[in-house]
Amino acid sequence: MAVYRGLGGWLFSLLPRFVDRVEELRRLEAYALEGYYPVLYLYGPEGCGKTRLLRELHQVLKQRGDVVAVYVDAQSTSGPWEAVEAPPELARLLAEAAAEYAGPPGRAAALALLRVLGRVRERLVRGKHVVVLVDDVARPLGLERVEAYTKSLLDLVERLQAQGAASVLALATTSEAASRSILARHSHASLAQLWNLGPEAFEELLEVLSAPRHVREQAWRLLGGNPRLALALRARGWRAERLIEDTYPRVRALLEELPRSLLRGLEEAVEDPDALRENQELRRHLVEANLATPVERPCLGYTPPPDPEQGVGRSYVWQTPLYRILAKKYLEEAGKP
Ligand SMILES: Nc1ncnc2c1ncn2[C@@H]1O[C@H](COP(=O)(O)OP(=O)(O)O)[C@@H](O)[C@H]1O
Ligand SMILES: [Mg+2]
Repeated sequence: MAVYRGLGGWLFSLLPRFVDRVEELRRLEAYALEGYYPVLYLYGPEGCGKTRLLRELHQVLKQRGDVVAVYVDAQSTSGPWEAVEAPPELARLLAEAAAEYAGPPGRAAALALLRVLGRVRERLVRGKHVVVLVDDVARPLGLERVEAYTKSLLDLVERLQAQGAASVLALATTSEAASRSILARHSHASLAQLWNLGPEAFEELLEVLSAPRHVREQAWRLLGGNPRLALALRARGWRAERLIEDTYPRVRALLEELPRSLLRGLEEAVEDPDALRENQELRRHLVEANLATPVERPCLGYTPPPDPEQGVGRSYVWQTPLYRILAKKYLEEAGKP
């Protein structure tokens, strides 16, 4: 079990031991200490481990005397103190400022962050490596505001640099694959993708979760290294058919939104996700539904090699093999297009 102190520490003590992400952490740590420009916007499948990676990064950085690290959980619905982790003086300023914003505390804290850090006393940041981590920013703000928010984060980076910070990294994350194309239109942010765990790391996670040996191969083929789904599978006694059964209604509801004319394309995308290259309309539906996504080559660290059986193409991927399997099931049920 990981040991965390500070806000939300009790919750983190319940999480499985952190596995792998060595390359990802190494790169983010380097960005944090060398500085990064413009904003770094990290996106990836739901449950692939973005929050955990940011928390682990924050944990490492806050031990250092030369770093000022602020973490905001923009999705938080508990009080402002739970939404923010920062050095005490900043945490207090952030909690006070967040109280002036309407809406859920996480959203309020994400907005307060811009104001508080934008006006922060020079002595707090001069000569320090300033690291601003805003987790899960797209949903609470709304996709239409993500771009403006990212621009504000970039203004903040520039202001902190002007105040004599040794380096600045502003990193925001999202599970909303659709925000990628919104942000790609402007140069306020660089986009990086975090993928699910690779096969060895996933095997290690399954070991940590005490998965019986005989289910591990099947778990990889079903989940493609997604840690949250591994927890969901464990909660179902490692019975794949129960996870399939329980996840299907949600995926079916999303696929029912597809016009019938797109079912032929869906069939093709089930066989090979790269079929989405040629099918803009279907692509838009599946990306907005967070079922499929473009894949960056390379991702921040582990990058999935093309493997149509696992739902991985060269350019497009099913977010987990499970969704591909469920799309297949839907097609069988909906009848041939
Ligand atoms: N590298 C990892 N090692 C151990 N557990 C992990 C790892 N990555 C993610 N998890 C666990 O999987 C679950 C989902 O991860 P999370 O970070 O919440 O995903 P995301 O933010 O991408 O939706 C969490 O319980 C988290 O602790
Ligand atoms: Mg998250």
